[in-house]
Amino acid sequence: MIVAIDGPAASGKGTLARRLARHYGLRHLDTGLLYRAVALKLIHRDMLEDAEAGAEEARHLDPAFLSDSALRSEAAGAGASVVSSYPQVRQALLEMQRRFAAEAPGAVLDGRDIGTVICPDADAKLFVIASPEERARRRALELESRGEEVDEAAILADIRARDHRDMNRATAPLKAADDAVTLDTTTLDADAVFAAAIAIIDGLTGRTPAS
Ligand code: CDP
Ligand code: CDP
Repeated sequence: MIVAIDGPAASGKGTLARRLARHYGLRHLDTGLLYRAVALKLIHRDMLEDAEAGAEEARHLDPAFLSDSALRSEAAGAGASVVSSYPQVRQALLEMQRRFAAEAPGAVLDGRDIGTVICPDADAKLFVIASPEERARRRALELESRGEEVDEAAILADIRARDHRDMNRATAPLKAADDAVTLDTTTLDADAVFAAAIAIIDGLTGRTPAS
């Protein structure tokens, strides 16, 4: 079973994907981390503009690096949004993601192009959205809880810029697959989103909900 979760920054994809993976006994891949990792490597080499160097980093990505806490920074996120527009980088990361998805017992992948490009045959596809203001609020709360200083207006501006770049790039832009179910989470908390997602997935895969 493969579940594809796509959506814009801070829509709650990662939180939902983790919970779904646990619920269904599947593995989970936060594909944003792959782009963040490539970006961070390039930033350290002062080569963020170099698509070929990015592809090279992508081909040699060490899975252990994906748990580095530096990947969570806003700088890594903004850098990821730059390197993710390089077709060479996307191509270099594509096979790795497909291999991960294909391994038994299956997986939940979250990102921007899982339902459209990486796993077009996924058993269930969710497109998770929320208003930019709500997403900025969530990201601000998250940073605050980590003790970081927060400028919510700057976060909102970053989210809008990232949405624009992600939706307008030529290769694998952020958009819902034709057969994805859109879940607007603007007024829902994480528990409500999880419950709605399970109902949708069980319906799509013909599962009977566990009581
Ligand atoms: O957590 P957040 O949604 O802010 O970001 P992320 O999912 O870690 O992704 C960071 C950036 O990587 C995004 O802005 C996208 O440009 C890019 N990305 C992508 O292009 N394709 C994916 N499957 C996942 C991430
Ligand atoms: O992966 P993505 O960037 O889409 O978002 P996330 O990191 O899963 O979620 C961003 C923040 O929103 C986290 O702090 C969540 O606890 C919170 N949140 C959520 O995930 N879902 C809601 N419906 C409401 C808040």
